[in-house]
Amino acid sequence: MKRRQLIISILAIEVIIAGVLLFNYRYLIARLRPVQVNQVLEILPTGSLQAVESASQAGAPNGLPAGQGQLLAAIPPAMFSLFGVLPQEAPPLNYQMSDALTTLGKVLFYESRLSVNRLQSCNSCHALDSFGMDGIPLSKGHDGLPVKRNAPTVYNAALHIAQFWDGRSPTVEEQAKVPILSSGEMGMLDPEQVERTLSSIPGYAPLFAAAFPGDPDPITFDHVAQAVGAFERRLLTPSRFDRFLAGDYAQLNEQEQRGFATFADLGCPNCHVGTTVGGLQFKKLGEKEPYPIEDMGRYTISNLESDKYVFKVPSLRNVAKTAPYLHNGSIQTLEEMVALMARYQLGRTVTPEQIADIVAFLHTLTGEIPIAYVAPPALPQ
Ligand code: HEC
Ligand code: HEC
Repeated sequence: MKRRQLIISILAIEVIIAGVLLFNYRYLIARLRPVQVNQVLEILPTGSLQAVESASQAGAPNGLPAGQGQLLAAIPPAMFSLFGVLPQEAPPLNYQMSDALTTLGKVLFYESRLSVNRLQSCNSCHALDSFGMDGIPLSKGHDGLPVKRNAPTVYNAALHIAQFWDGRSPTVEEQAKVPILSSGEMGMLDPEQVERTLSSIPGYAPLFAAAFPGDPDPITFDHVAQAVGAFERRLLTPSRFDRFLAGDYAQLNEQEQRGFATFADLGCPNCHVGTTVGGLQFKKLGEKEPYPIEDMGRYTISNLESDKYVFKVPSLRNVAKTAPYLHNGSIQTLEEMVALMARYQLGRTVTPEQIADIVAFLHTLTGEIPIAYVAPPALPQ
């Protein structure tokens, strides 16, 4: 009898433990994949515009935030939940943010002594006062030779599913290690060279000590990457679009709202979705019609046939400020980009008016640069 009771209680405990584990696992998955976009979008076919008769007449129809101003275009209510207001920071999974950490990260972001010829910093190719990029098709490395792909902006990048056009780095912290050691970019030989260089600059000791309190030997390559990543986690640029999503409809004029409705109706949010209006999925360039490019995209890292010409869908935040476009910087204007996307990604033709409306909408994604946060710091002597 006693034995039976014992077995039953052991079984009960196991069931409880399994339940807790399952809950944690689901929580973790939910955090890793903030938006299950495809699932949401399956219930939202293109042409869904017609489903909403006249949003402006109805005031705030189902699903829309109650707001000031007026809705002047037929924007499907579901659109308001497919995008999101930018948070204050992109939270890291495995450490605590602190001001000391981001202060150090900023100094390192501007530190050209992290490159082998002491001339190039992260800011050289991702100028923080120019929306986090350099405005040329292909940046030049420390050796003056062009790199292989266009430099994307660092603003809002921390919220992406992964880093780089092919997503080969999972986080901004892991990403930060790559350019420093890349022979085509900053060209440092190995982590030890980075650590030696920073240790030889006395001004860095107190900065690292403050960022990593209690660590007797804080100047490490991993900590460099962590601090730069932490700094990037606050490089977020809220825009008029966020205030619009929150219910202040007056933020977007009639043409911009029509552009948003057209963007939705054509199916652009099948790929450009979520808080960052992109950055959350990998998709083929040329989904509907082959697009002539040489770069094989994710295939170069996975060797999977299905990854040929697949790239991370770029975020469209600040896109009006980050020309030239595509992974190779080959497209100069947003008008060309919209027509290209409609044709090759969606198999649709668009009128000049639709293009103009969408471009007007894309301009509402231009955010405010956190000027004080990114102001160039004094570099340690
Ligand atoms: C020589 C120019 C250059 C320098 C210097 C440079 N980058 Fe980049 N950065 C690039 C290019 C080019 C890419 C895209 C490469 C690719 O996707 O294959 C990139 C990609 C990135 C991305 C990914 C963004 C996204 O949307 O996927 C981040 C983040 C980033 N760089 C941060 C940094 C940091 C931090 C530093 C300094 C440690 C740095 N970069 C130094 C050119 C540069
Ligand atoms: C099937 C997925 C998909 C759809 C649908 C789609 N895009 Fe894209 N978009 C991409 C991918 C992938 C890229 C990057 C391709 C590359 O660089 O090789 C991209 C790039 C862009 C860019 C350039 C961004 C930059 O920083 O270089 C813009 C602008 C853009 N898309 C707008 C749109 C618009 C507007 C629509 C709707 C008409 C749309 N996209 C529909 C996947 C998509």
